[in-house]
Amino acid sequence: MQKFYLTTPIYYPSGKFHIGTAYTTALANTIKKYKQERGFEAYLLTGMDEHGQKIQKVAEANGKTPQEHVDKMAEEAKKLWSLMEIEYDDFIRTTEERHTKVVEKIFDRLMEQGDIYKSEYEGWYCMPCETYFTETQLIDGKCPDCGREVKKMKEESYFFNMKKYADRLIKFYYENPNFILPESRKNELFNNFLKPGLEDLCVSRTSFDWGVKVKKDPKHVVYVWLDALTNYITALGYLSENDSLMEKYWPADLHLVGKDIIRFHGLYWPIFLMALDLPLPKQIYAHGFIMMKDGKMSKSKGNVIYPEPLIERYGLDTFKYFILREMSYGQDGTFTPEGFVERYNFDLCNDLGNLLNRTIGMINKYFNGDITSYPNIISDLDKEIEKFSDVSIHEIEEYFDTYHISNAIAETWNLVSRTNKYIDETAPWILFKEEKYEALKSVMYHLVESLRRIAILIKPYMKHTSKKILQQLNIPEELQTWNSLTDYNKLKNIKVTDKPEVLFARLETETEVEEIKNMMK
Ligand code: MSP
Repeated sequence: MQKFYLTTPIYYPSGKFHIGTAYTTALANTIKKYKQERGFEAYLLTGMDEHGQKIQKVAEANGKTPQEHVDKMAEEAKKLWSLMEIEYDDFIRTTEERHTKVVEKIFDRLMEQGDIYKSEYEGWYCMPCETYFTETQLIDGKCPDCGREVKKMKEESYFFNMKKYADRLIKFYYENPNFILPESRKNELFNNFLKPGLEDLCVSRTSFDWGVKVKKDPKHVVYVWLDALTNYITALGYLSENDSLMEKYWPADLHLVGKDIIRFHGLYWPIFLMALDLPLPKQIYAHGFIMMKDGKMSKSKGNVIYPEPLIERYGLDTFKYFILREMSYGQDGTFTPEGFVERYNFDLCNDLGNLLNRTIGMINKYFNGDITSYPNIISDLDKEIEKFSDVSIHEIEEYFDTYHISNAIAETWNLVSRTNKYIDETAPWILFKEEKYEALKSVMYHLVESLRRIAILIKPYMKHTSKKILQQLNIPEELQTWNSLTDYNKLKNIKVTDKPEVLFARLETETEVEEIKNMMK
């Protein structure tokens, strides 16, 4: 069986996870489920990035030790992933011994090899925030976080010699043009960072101690990115007694990241791996951000929206449908309460829900719920819808394979719309009135086929809706699989339910928009 190893970023447990964090994870799960449908042995890793000064400070502010804080946050994260039915295979936390022990070893080895050297870190330090900033990060020469004065300071630090590997990475970029997706991000990394020459990276700090201690120099802790990025291999047992997962799954097939952290994944991570003599991941895809009408989500603006209340009120499938559809490939998307309710009412309730209900209603009315077998006589309109859905399936698979998930969903809804149009074009009620039963049978058969295909195509991200459709139509198990998508004539002796259940009850727009606005904090 072919394997597929994919990862989400490991999240900072600095606050409650909002829909942006949920997006990356929902996307990862969708890709995993798709790969499984296509016969891959897929392995999904997620987890938490628990070290660093920020976490230490948040814990303090909450009157907790850092460990107590991250333990609680890890529990909450797992609760959310369980609510979202995320089927991760492992959840790595950077405070776990299986990680810290290996980070120590990696640091040692890189030091011995001469890739890591001791020098001085110089930057603009904000005393109250206890954080260094680079010149370009400052806003009007002041701290970008709190706006107060900053001071130029120096600190003894270890650095990673990026320059040593830069040429190899440039060569790798040339030889692997699809390494970074989308292409625009790759060009950005290449032109703005690789070509002008990489700066060496500071990989240790002495100004705080919540981190993995450098064994040979314990006043230093390993600075965040070397600690964080290596989670992708420590979770597989790299340099541990049992590294069978590493053997099986490395290199990763896909690292999913947000656009803000592509620099670390696309430049530093490959270089760390080169230094460790390990193969590089096959692809890194950087998605955009979920934005609000008034820009980024932030507590101070009171515009942060969390997944839980949305899922509770509108269901998991609706939530996933919305965020995955709204985020175009590599682009930012916008969350608005109006947009959310509109997509629900139009796409889910009207287009998909009604299609199922109308279809079941007609089969019951005209044929007592029976679909017997592939019809003998096929009209031009029937042929057209067959062809349309064949082409759709092909395109949708291509979109999934290249991680254009929003396009895959949009194309599936083109098929939904086309099927609705097919009902209008064939006008089954007239065929019935005119007693053209063979033609009518064929229309019903093609409707069920379309719905069966749609149900399979949405399975990776709308499991429950998919199941409900297949159950109401009474589709046999063997015709519920991705492999059976291309079969078009195998349905036989099916009796659809005579008690159709509404998939998505219509929402009253104004009330729901208000409801969602009240969910924002
Ligand atoms: N800990 C690092 C990642 C280390 S990976 C080795 C980190 N954590 S984070 O919690 O700040 O962000 C995690 C992910 O969430 C990032 O990919 C980031 O882009 C993503 N998002 C944060 N806000 C987001 C939105 N509003 N929309 C979409 N994704 C967002 O960075």
